[in-house]
Amino acid sequence: MSAFSEANFKGLNYESFRPHYPSSFYELLHKYVTTSKDGANADHAEKVIDLGCGTGISTYPLLNIANTVIGVDLSQRMVDTANDLIEERCKELQISPSRIKFITGDAETFIESSNDEIRKDGVDLITCAQCLHWFGSYPSFFKACHQLLKSGGTLAYWYYRDPIVVSISDYAKGNDTELISRINRLYLKYVYEDEAYLGPYWENPGRDILYNMYRDINKRIPEDLFTDNIIMTYVPKPGLYPGDEDLKLVKKDISIVDFVHYIETFSAYHSYKDKTGDTENILEKFKQEATRGTEIDVKDPILTIIWHTGYTFMKKK
Ligand SMILES: C[S@@+](CC[C@H](N)C(=O)[O-])C[C@H]1O[C@@H](n2cnc3c(N)ncnc32)[C@H](O)[C@@H]1O
Repeated sequence: MSAFSEANFKGLNYESFRPHYPSSFYELLHKYVTTSKDGANADHAEKVIDLGCGTGISTYPLLNIANTVIGVDLSQRMVDTANDLIEERCKELQISPSRIKFITGDAETFIESSNDEIRKDGVDLITCAQCLHWFGSYPSFFKACHQLLKSGGTLAYWYYRDPIVVSISDYAKGNDTELISRINRLYLKYVYEDEAYLGPYWENPGRDILYNMYRDINKRIPEDLFTDNIIMTYVPKPGLYPGDEDLKLVKKDISIVDFVHYIETFSAYHSYKDKTGDTENILEKFKQEATRGTEIDVKDPILTIIWHTGYTFMKKK
């Protein structure tokens, strides 16, 4: 997966327009990590590694679970953005910057050969947020995680894809049903279906694995190495909100412009732009098509969107 590493990839846009994971999800993970089968519950974990950490969206909340967290990412751009934000973030959270560190590197190489200091006492938790579908060989990945984890340690991965618009605020009532289905149809057309837009620019097999909500990874979990697996998936529908056990990614009061900014963070959009120059300015077209024939301004904060999500937790046997 190279698009996130390219010099013109905008790490700060990624940080602003990608969804951030809710504290309710980290509470589920915390409970899972600190509960052991024999009932001996610890309050806190010692060490966590967040693979494919990007700008650190998934990494900081892990400090509620463990004393120290190391984020690892292949993209120097992402790690530079993460490092630029450390001082400000740690000040906001009132924590010592010594508890968190970001390193550039390939996830698998890192876990297979992580240095003696990390390997010495083992790791309590390894996380992969919205990235495992880009990694290479799953049998060797699971094996390396198993070796690095402490006995009873946790491997957790999660993901999201393709938000749908589920409602439109009162301001735009009268347009709602038509507008909801119009924007959802446009999203599919621009992101997958129309060969002239982003469809051909997704990198595979990563995108297919994500599209199929990690089915192909989950079926490779080695039963001899891991136990107590929890596998959850959530598929949004208008009127059906995620429950307490789901990874809830919901954004309210966002505008069509914000929605388009989210599409701009896709690796496929980045590749499409690189290869075509985007002379058609497709996301401008998206905004025009979305609002055509309505009074709505593309900057009106009227949309509620919910993502497809899923997660898998397991313990080292
Ligand atoms: C969609 S971002 C997710 C970032 C962050 N974890 C989050 O939840 O927002 C995927 C990240 O995985 C990284 N990545 C992809 N393949 C990788 C690999 N083999 N090793 C380490 N990082 C990788 C990319 O550079 C990118 O930053």
